[in-house]
Amino acid sequence: MLDFHNHLMPAVDDGAVDIDESRVGFEMLRSQGVREIITTPHLRGSLTDRPRELKGFLTALDEAWGLLEALADSEFPDIRIERGVELMLDIPRPNLDDPRLRLAGTSYALVEFPFMAVPPHSTLAIRNITESGWVPVIAHPERYANMPENYDLVNDWRDAGAFIQVNSGSLLGYYGAGPRRLAWALLQTGSADYLSSDYHSRGKCAVAQCADVLKGAGGVVQHRALTVTNPRRLLANQSPIPVPPLESGEPPLWKRMLPW
Ligand SMILES: [Fe+2]
Repeated sequence: MLDFHNHLMPAVDDGAVDIDESRVGFEMLRSQGVREIITTPHLRGSLTDRPRELKGFLTALDEAWGLLEALADSEFPDIRIERGVELMLDIPRPNLDDPRLRLAGTSYALVEFPFMAVPPHSTLAIRNITESGWVPVIAHPERYANMPENYDLVNDWRDAGAFIQVNSGSLLGYYGAGPRRLAWALLQTGSADYLSSDYHSRGKCAVAQCADVLKGAGGVVQHRALTVTNPRRLLANQSPIPVPPLESGEPPLWKRMLPW
């Protein structure tokens, strides 16, 4: 599997606090079947309007990336690592020209909305990015507090050229019942393009259990498309293949309680 949303870089955001936690992050993702990682520390899009601050933050990211690469080279030679950011859309038109702001230097950029809520005019912000020549991948739409009321927005975003990344933990209920329901709904409508961990280098990691639950729900094909085929296509700068709608949906509660 290829995971392109996680927080493994040491001491740059709310992910790994130091290189030891970065190691934990690598070990966890590897133990759950991930072999390719694009790591994505948080970055505010508004920084791109303030070049001096952006330069300072990117310098800090470069240093953290150097440490992470050295760790991977010495202890995780079987894992390919690349870098990107999870860019917060706190301004409507961030400048994504610097390849470090995109996923592995491709045309694809991982974006999220601030305050865990979808702002007004979100589709316009998505269109601004596509008009600049980049491809937005919207992180965990199922997690936004006002998302259930705005469910049609997912189609608007997709029509505007965005793709959709669901968190594996959402399907297991890590973020509550609302995100869980919406995550399954996104899969049932074929509206999700990618599945990633959003792992913060400590605590539970949902990748392996999510694979079991999704495959158990009849989603073998979908799981492969969401975690292998489409992320690899992204790395090759190619659009995702359409993921067929999941027919069965969320397993019943008694099945979810089983120790997978
Ligand atoms: Fe994240």
